[in-house]
Amino acid sequence: MAHRSLTIEYKEFASMEDMMPEDRSLLESAIGATKGSYAPFSHYNVGAAVLLSDGTVVQGANQENAAFPSGLCAERTALFAAHAQHPELAVRALAVTACRDGRMAPEPAWPCGACRQVLAETQKRAEAPVRVIVGGLSRIVVFSSVDDILPFIFDGSAIPVAE
Ligand code: THU
Repeated sequence: MAHRSLTIEYKEFASMEDMMPEDRSLLESAIGATKGSYAPFSHYNVGAAVLLSDGTVVQGANQENAAFPSGLCAERTALFAAHAQHPELAVRALAVTACRDGRMAPEPAWPCGACRQVLAETQKRAEAPVRVIVGGLSRIVVFSSVDDILPFIFDGSAIPVAE
């Protein structure tokens, strides 16, 4: 038996002013995307913006439903739209943030497990690290790869090839 530990890398910013211009403008797009949120049940308006390899930005927002599991998170709304509209382009980065009752939520809008798994597939399709920018009023966290937000990633490569 061995005790092991895992280190993950991320950058933390106290405000948007200190960020790289490309990351900052993607986060601004995610803030704008919260306008498309439909969240009559949680009142937690989440917006996401996806940057593609040609510079195109695709926005998404959470879409809730009276039958709760039928709703979808902002990140997956944006990632699925990006891949559906531009299947030939690689995703370079995703930014996500949340508002509640019109104000930016203090805590970063951490992507849920299902969205992290979709990010994993996105990164596999991109064949290059995908940056993940998670915004909140108190701090902004930037991961330079999905591996850092989803350790022990399942990407299907462990499935044995059928004889
Ligand atoms: N939500 C997202 O949009 N992204 C996440 O990663 C976590 C949760 C949404 C889903 C639901 O509309 C609301 O936040 C409350 O769970």
